[in-house]
Amino acid sequence: MKGLILSGGRGSRLRPITYTLAKQLVPVANKPILFYGIEALAGSGITDIGIVVGDTKREIMEAVGDGGRFGVSVTYLEQEAPLGLAHAVLIAERYLGPDPFLMYLGDNLIREKLAGLVRRFAEEKPNAQILLTRVPNPQEFGVAELRDGKIVRLIEKPKVPPSNLALVGVYMFDRHVFDAVKAIKPSGRGELEITDAIQWLIDRGFTVRPHVIEGWWKDTGKLEDMLEANRIILDTIETRVDGELEAAELHGKVIVEAGAKIVRSVVRGPVIIGKGAVIENAYIGPFTAIGDQVVIRGSEVEHSIILEGSSITDVGGRIESSLVGKNVTINRSDSKPRSYNLMLGDRSHVRLI
Ligand code: TTP
Repeated sequence: MKGLILSGGRGSRLRPITYTLAKQLVPVANKPILFYGIEALAGSGITDIGIVVGDTKREIMEAVGDGGRFGVSVTYLEQEAPLGLAHAVLIAERYLGPDPFLMYLGDNLIREKLAGLVRRFAEEKPNAQILLTRVPNPQEFGVAELRDGKIVRLIEKPKVPPSNLALVGVYMFDRHVFDAVKAIKPSGRGELEITDAIQWLIDRGFTVRPHVIEGWWKDTGKLEDMLEANRIILDTIETRVDGELEAAELHGKVIVEAGAKIVRSVVRGPVIIGKGAVIENAYIGPFTAIGDQVVIRGSEVEHSIILEGSSITDVGGRIESSLVGKNVTINRSDSKPRSYNLMLGDRSHVRLI
């Protein structure tokens, strides 16, 4: 079975980070989200993966390469514009051919092992398989209505949800999905929706099998979800200290990568500190991922993702629940007049105390 990972899209909900970085390359516990997806597919025995790319094609290709380091062979499929998940399937038809395939949204993280599902799909040959998970806020997702264990309807972001079962970004299809994506029309937001394609299959009597997953699943499209994904992954790390410690207090699970230095600081895990980072006279609290070459001095950071090359110095209050891009500088100045001095990209948000 081939894999199809969707790594194009707009990433508008994660601006301004996505002005300069593909959403799928934002690191979770210091590893790009997309890599978790590739590893999940590789772990299920899929060795041929098509990655749908858009405007951020160059950086995705640079990060993933030919897939060799994941033990897979990657082919890049260019989507001329983010015209919808079903449109991504449409442009992948030549690559995928007539055999069943697994489609994975490149900004999703899922705990469930996919090998069993892939095997069962190949053996039992339904026309499609969708994964569902119970969520407290179904209004924000594609939601499935089930009757007698069968899917009768899929609805995008329903005002009155028929269930709390949201569609997870992992699907399996046989070749009939290509008829579906060619038959449907763009939705109100101008996209070919995968929910419409699946509904098309249901309405024509094709077997669309639901599978409710029990482990966590995260769609990292928004900041809160990204931080939550970071929290979930950091919860699974084991302590490893390859860097240098000097009068440092480490509590709980902490990874200190080679070349990193922690001096007169308290680190309360789970935390990962990237290569060459410097933490000095600082506090790093739980669920924080500090990227490579980051400098944190005289400051406190918790429940945050700080991307490589940034520096945070002598900030008074604690920085919390934040996503800081690459090579950002945050520092304190004592010069007069006392003022905030900012250079922020479009759509940045800053909350001052
Ligand atoms: P979404 O998060 O639904 O869309 P988006 O990336 O455009 O984000 P936003 O709503 O914040 O603007 O996409 C899910 C995944 O599928 C994500 O990895 C991007 C990818 N995708 C494509 O590859 N092609 C597309 O046409 C779309 C809509 C998404």
